[in-house]
Amino acid sequence: MNNPLIVAHRGASYAAPENTIPSFELAFKENADFIEGDFWLTKDSEIVCIHDPDTKRVSKKNIKLKVCLSTLVELKKIDVGSWMDDKYKGTTIPTFQEVLKIIPDGKGIYIEIKDDREIFIEKLREILNQFSVPKDKIRIIAFNPNTVRLAKDILPEIKTYWLFSWYFSRKKCLKSLAQRRLMQTLKTLDCDGLDVNAASYIDEKLVKSLRENNLDFCAYDVDKVEDAIRLINLGIDSITTNSPLKMREEIETVIAMEHY
Ligand code: G3P
Ligand code: CA
Repeated sequence: MNNPLIVAHRGASYAAPENTIPSFELAFKENADFIEGDFWLTKDSEIVCIHDPDTKRVSKKNIKLKVCLSTLVELKKIDVGSWMDDKYKGTTIPTFQEVLKIIPDGKGIYIEIKDDREIFIEKLREILNQFSVPKDKIRIIAFNPNTVRLAKDILPEIKTYWLFSWYFSRKKCLKSLAQRRLMQTLKTLDCDGLDVNAASYIDEKLVKSLRENNLDFCAYDVDKVEDAIRLINLGIDSITTNSPLKMREEIETVIAMEHY
């Protein structure tokens, strides 16, 4: 069995408010290899970490500020911690620089680009050039294929993965057809791999096809140990989970039992 990287989805977001410094710090305390965060550009060209295009869901007072139409000062006034627990009251939306600063040596970050504008990626490059995070400790991920292409073009030295979500409509598309379509698009992106939601559509055939094309193979939404073990048996490179410590311990327990 290989040993995949454990990536903390929006930080240790099962216990701390997603996409905040407390959540990322907890993830590293829980020995996650990488954190994953979602990023947008503000009206005054600052990169900030938040999942949705506006603040409503993570503001206990339901304050709705659209990130791209608000300044950093305006966004920093919003408490994005107490919706989860009063002990996080006063937690603010972090900037990209604030997130980069807390990454310990040897650890890394999956940067999910939510803002598909080219100026976002230009700004990302500018900030990354001011920091010394090793390139192999950075991954860029995005759902939008054009964003993946653009990111790889502007930051060729950074591994970039296409995010894909298996979509199950009432009438399920045949697995082989879904896989073929996925691979067709992936090959046009000139990127480094696939980051896909854990689902039964991931099988040996898909992994073989990824490896034949020299592509990394990652999965997100992995919160059940049985999913993780199935993916590990398929040779997965990283798994993204909301509970990094629990996931690592559960995987180790299963592996230890198999060797017993
Ligand atoms: O790690 C990928 C995953 O974060 C994509 O989904 O909606 O949680 O950003 P979402
Ligand atoms: Ca994300």
